Amino acid sequence: MRRAAILAIGALLGAALWWRRNPSAMPYWQRFFVELPHPGITRERLVEVLEPRPRERLLEVGPGTGYYALTVAERLDGGRLEVYDLQKEMVDHVMRRTAERGLTNVTGWTGDAQQMLFEDNRFDGAYLTVVLGEIPNQDLALEELARVVKPGGRVVVGEIALDPHFVSFGSLRERAERAGLEFERRLGGGFAYFARFRVRAAA
Ligand SMILES: C[S@@+](CC[C@H](N)C(=O)[O-])C[C@H]1O[C@@H](n2cnc3c(N)ncnc32)[C@H](O)[C@@H]1O
Repeated sequence: MRRAAILAIGALLGAALWWRRNPSAMPYWQRFFVELPHPGITRERLVEVLEPRPRERLLEVGPGTGYYALTVAERLDGGRLEVYDLQKEMVDHVMRRTAERGLTNVTGWTGDAQQMLFEDNRFDGAYLTVVLGEIPNQDLALEELARVVKPGGRVVVGEIALDPHFVSFGSLRERAERAGLEFERRLGGGFAYFARFRVRAAA
């Protein structure tokens, strides 16, 4: 019994390590995990740090099944939320939920955050939560965010240590600064946090 428990824990740790070293998108069949509460990176906290405003055009990268999307879209009266995910099933799932909620200001796109199909300066702001660590080239994704968000616009990144692809605040800040994102504030601590950056204006 004890041996079985040790083996199970070892297998779990091994799987977590493997995932960490091999960034990849969480498959749609595992969506149960993102429908659970997100301790420390709640919807209320995202709203507090992102400050979505009426008439804005915002981008969510990697919305999963829409844990945050509906809450944000509801605050964009006269504006628009565009959700962008590698997996079409995730995008379709979010669009079903927004339709059920009667929201008409959400657009869904399928694509890779490392090479976004949007023109420069399209968005007033962007956010991504529990996504960055799944992306093989995080630097590229951060550069793309700095490109598609207007100079002066904000980019909010959320992370939680329960995720095998967790990105520490130190690593994020270093990469973000290199990509042209200036650190503004952080909400939360080492276990779960939201960090807000501002897109640097071109020199
Ligand atoms: C762990 S889920 C998080 C979902 C949601 N943000 C949440 O917190 O509930 C990660 C999401 O990021 C998406 N994703 C992973 N890599 C991506 C990439 N390169 N480009 C766009 N989306 C990506 C996955 O398909 C998945 O929907």
